Amino acid sequence: MVQFKSTSILLALASPLACAQNVVSLKGDGWTLSNPALNISVPAHLPSQAHLDLFANQVIGDPYYGLNDFNLRWVVWANWTYTSDPISGLSPSISTWLLFNGLDTFATIEFCGQHVANTNNQFRQYWFNVSSILSTCAEADRQISLNFGSAPLIANDIANQPGQETWPYGVQQVYEFTNRWFIRKEQSDFGWDWGPAFAPAGPWQPAWVVQLESEEVYVRNSIVDIYREGQMPLIPPNQNNDWVVNASIDYFGDLPAGVSMSYDLTDLQNKTIASGSLGNVNCTNSTVTGETTVPASMVDLWWPSQLGPQTLYYMNIDLVSSSNKTLASITKRVGFRTIVLNEFPISDAQLAQGIAPGNNWHFEINGHEFYAKGSNFIPPDAFWARVTPERISLLFDSVVEGNQNMLRVWASGAYSPDFMYDLADEKGILLWSEFEFGDALYPVDEAFLDNVREEIEYNVRRVNHHPSLALWAGGNELENLELLLVNQSAPDELDYYMAQYETLFLDTILPVVFGNSHSISYTPSSTSNGWLSLNFSNAIPVIERYNNLTAGRVQPLTCSVYGETDFYNYDPAVLYNDSAFPTGRFSNEFGFHSMPSIQSWRQQISPADLSFNSTTVILRDHHPPPGGLNTSNFVNASIGQAQMTEAVEMWYPVPNKTDSVANFSAWCHATQIFQADLYTSEIGFYRRGDIWVAPTWAGIEYDGRWKVLHYAAKDYYQHVIIAPYYNMATGNLSVWVTSDLWSPIRGTASFAWYDWSGNKLPVNTSSSVDFIVGAINSTQVLQTFTTDILAGRDPSNTVLHMTIEAAGSLPNCNATRVFKHGNWFHPTALKDAQLVDPGLKLSYSSSTKNFTVEARSGVAAWVWLDYPSGAVLNFDSNAFWLLPNQTREVGYVVKSDSTNGGWIGGVTVQSLWNQTLST
Ligand SMILES: *[C@@H]1O[C@H](CO)[C@@H](O)[C@H](O)[C@H]1NC(C)=O
Ligand SMILES: *[C@@H]1O[C@H](CO)[C@@H](O)[C@H](O)[C@H]1NC(C)=O
Ligand SMILES: *[C@@H]1O[C@H](CO)[C@@H](O)[C@H](O)[C@H]1NC(C)=O
Ligand SMILES: *[C@@H]1O[C@H](CO)[C@@H](O)[C@H](O)[C@H]1NC(C)=O
Ligand SMILES: *[C@@H]1O[C@H](CO)[C@@H](O)[C@H](O)[C@H]1NC(C)=O
Ligand SMILES: *[C@@H]1O[C@H](CO)[C@@H](O)[C@H](O)[C@H]1NC(C)=O
Ligand SMILES: *[C@@H]1O[C@H](CO)[C@@H](O)[C@H](O)[C@H]1NC(C)=O
Repeated sequence: MVQFKSTSILLALASPLACAQNVVSLKGDGWTLSNPALNISVPAHLPSQAHLDLFANQVIGDPYYGLNDFNLRWVVWANWTYTSDPISGLSPSISTWLLFNGLDTFATIEFCGQHVANTNNQFRQYWFNVSSILSTCAEADRQISLNFGSAPLIANDIANQPGQETWPYGVQQVYEFTNRWFIRKEQSDFGWDWGPAFAPAGPWQPAWVVQLESEEVYVRNSIVDIYREGQMPLIPPNQNNDWVVNASIDYFGDLPAGVSMSYDLTDLQNKTIASGSLGNVNCTNSTVTGETTVPASMVDLWWPSQLGPQTLYYMNIDLVSSSNKTLASITKRVGFRTIVLNEFPISDAQLAQGIAPGNNWHFEINGHEFYAKGSNFIPPDAFWARVTPERISLLFDSVVEGNQNMLRVWASGAYSPDFMYDLADEKGILLWSEFEFGDALYPVDEAFLDNVREEIEYNVRRVNHHPSLALWAGGNELENLELLLVNQSAPDELDYYMAQYETLFLDTILPVVFGNSHSISYTPSSTSNGWLSLNFSNAIPVIERYNNLTAGRVQPLTCSVYGETDFYNYDPAVLYNDSAFPTGRFSNEFGFHSMPSIQSWRQQISPADLSFNSTTVILRDHHPPPGGLNTSNFVNASIGQAQMTEAVEMWYPVPNKTDSVANFSAWCHATQIFQADLYTSEIGFYRRGDIWVAPTWAGIEYDGRWKVLHYAAKDYYQHVIIAPYYNMATGNLSVWVTSDLWSPIRGTASFAWYDWSGNKLPVNTSSSVDFIVGAINSTQVLQTFTTDILAGRDPSNTVLHMTIEAAGSLPNCNATRVFKHGNWFHPTALKDAQLVDPGLKLSYSSSTKNFTVEARSGVAAWVWLDYPSGAVLNFDSNAFWLLPNQTREVGYVVKSDSTNGGWIGGVTVQSLWNQTLST
């Protein structure tokens, strides 16, 4: 952590070295939050949001507790004013600026009691010249005041303006407050199916007062774009080419004529790799840009986790005057890599390998296709102002420990802070990043488009240098959902709204992305079928494919596969019917919700509410959106609870414990088992096809505790896995070995059948099969029908254990190593299985710091190590199965612990058997 902190301070050094300028940070205490009408005035800080300062001063309770989501609506409807103490140390007669990195969202800014500006975009940086105001301002009056209006009320006002755009019925997805699409604020602040609606207001990012003498500038933002010579976005570049480093500084102030730029590229030990002047320097009244080339041989590549090292460098850039005075210096930590989203048509060579026709839709890192294994990342908190690097670092550790290499940073939250990209750069997590639009269509009047342009320009330039930045996507569920809904509701108007969609996502946003970055691909929508044509001699190089699935090749259309998929149907029956899963090249979202653990529930609801369908629990389940996209009947919204109940009842022994809290806990756990079961079937299915995967519905709870899902996904995200695929209706069982290694792997798969007591059964399948799996490919190692092989047996008393042992090598590594994986298949639902008490025994060794779990009398399904609250940790493995007389040693990584190790004594073990018991 200490190391990280020093790094982040270093990266924040964007201020010029020249001495005369005066930069006053407005961070920290020294602020007052007030609302005179409500007679509230409390000490506050910056950055912050009103709920947080009200909570810190006990004006309100914990916004997350119980039903405060609803009880604190009065905070949402009010105006909140942040007023600074008088700012000292300002010289009245020089050029003076206010700089805000983020105001959430509608703010009226005053300085010295005089109006400065109004703002209307949470995601923009704002800076204002206040020299003339300061020149006549007494020292005691040098206060900044930021009066924030109610975003939901202002959104409604905008919606009611004459001539305002409207959309066909059902297109605009409403959660709790409506009209979010008219304003540039975190869209999930108005409610979402996974979260509360607080619509917070406040200065959520740092701010400064900057004073400059003549011929001085202040760097407010900058971009470094590193790409292979000749590289264009969306096109795989020549990996032998040298690197172009293009650096551009956004400044305000008084830039003298004749500036130049010098650079020093160093490794992390500050040893210079290359240095000199940047060439082709261009200046405008707001930017200075220059570039150089770095020979490919001078630098090592950056790779994501599991694919190679995360090599990083510092790019130090000085802006130098004609008299050799350093006007400004910036340092950006960078990496050398190419990351391309390849949406080209399937080539003849690919067809010859047996890949289905259609288009590609996969990422290539440094010219290599790789398997994207990941999750979706939704905002980690309803209040960004309290998200710390420490918290994100713990979360990202869990991502890497879970064998994941990519996060889709879901649109409709907020743009990720730099520290998040810094951590991802260090840990090797690719961040598929999205502009903040989702599940709605948006206005296209000039003022809205101009506002968006500024927002995109600022954020694209701010984070482009991070090697973890993998992609820009226009928004969430636009082509596959929003345009589809228009077509359903008002097919006559599809052309009109499609043209508007293109105005925003192609004509407005795309040129800003490609005008700034050669290194990052852009797709207008997650999810989409990719581009139909790509031609950089057109003003807008991309034409979207939409549903034009013309094969254009000899294969029949039905075999063609395009683009990404996004799949939810909330029918738990799909667990053993993989023909229900969509076929695509990449799955960006799918799954099912599950309950948090009892430990997490206890932190946020009262003991009296700890039951599955208590009013509080039901009202905290915002899925599906209230009343089917309508705020009026929110109280009836227990559909989400009903879906989870149905899933558990369909497949597992139903908890029926005498103690009501124990029963609640067992239900919560059972919903997590279903979630894990469903995700692993889908991950297995998507990995097996010639498609790519990255699932959603986070498997990690608010405080960092892993759900069953995250352990199960960790297991399924190993490089080489064996997995069964079963159609319960037909009895068709196949078993496949899937590998995402970059070279072929060879090994043996073994099969053994048991009854639930652990006696071996002589079922007639091969006991071992040798296999070879090609690079990023799958091989079938068993295909049979349970109706044949289990004829004359009771299928409810059979389980198949399958294991593999194979030799191969990791990407970017020649050494051979052994890969092992095991999996289980049961032909009936576990609720019908003849489970026996596996006689689990748990012990702990303080010398090895390992737990040991042993099954003594039967097959143990879904073995679960649980630990009490007060600590957050993850076990090396969990949610596994055991044969009788089999033991497993389980280590752990502690993330936080307020029990001084006391949690160890509170660890318990159970399996699915326990769910059948009354105590
Ligand atoms: C509330 O805030 C908005 C945005 O700053 C402002 O336009 C409006 O005048 C404010 N209203 C009051 C009563 O302060
Ligand atoms: C590299 O330089 C920075 C800034 O001067 C300094 O803070 C850091 O400690 C140096 N790192 C090493 C490894 O010397
Ligand atoms: C900077 O130049 C642009 C045109 O290139 C102009 O529109 C803008 O007003 C200028 N800004 C300032 C602060 O001079
Ligand atoms: C400066 O502008 C010229 C002309 O537009 C362009 O060719 C050159 O690439 C620019 N330099 C940089 C570093 O972008
Ligand atoms: C600025 O520095 C360069 C390189 O160090 C040198 O060649 C040049 O003469 C200097 N110019 C002035 C005005 O000092
Ligand atoms: C569909 O795509 C084909 C090329 O694959 C193109 O020739 C045709 O014009 C497209 N149709 C439409 C309606 O855009
Ligand atoms: C919770 O309520 C829903 C909706 O009424 C119902 O379908 C479900 O069976 C209940 N679940 C439990 C575990 O009681």
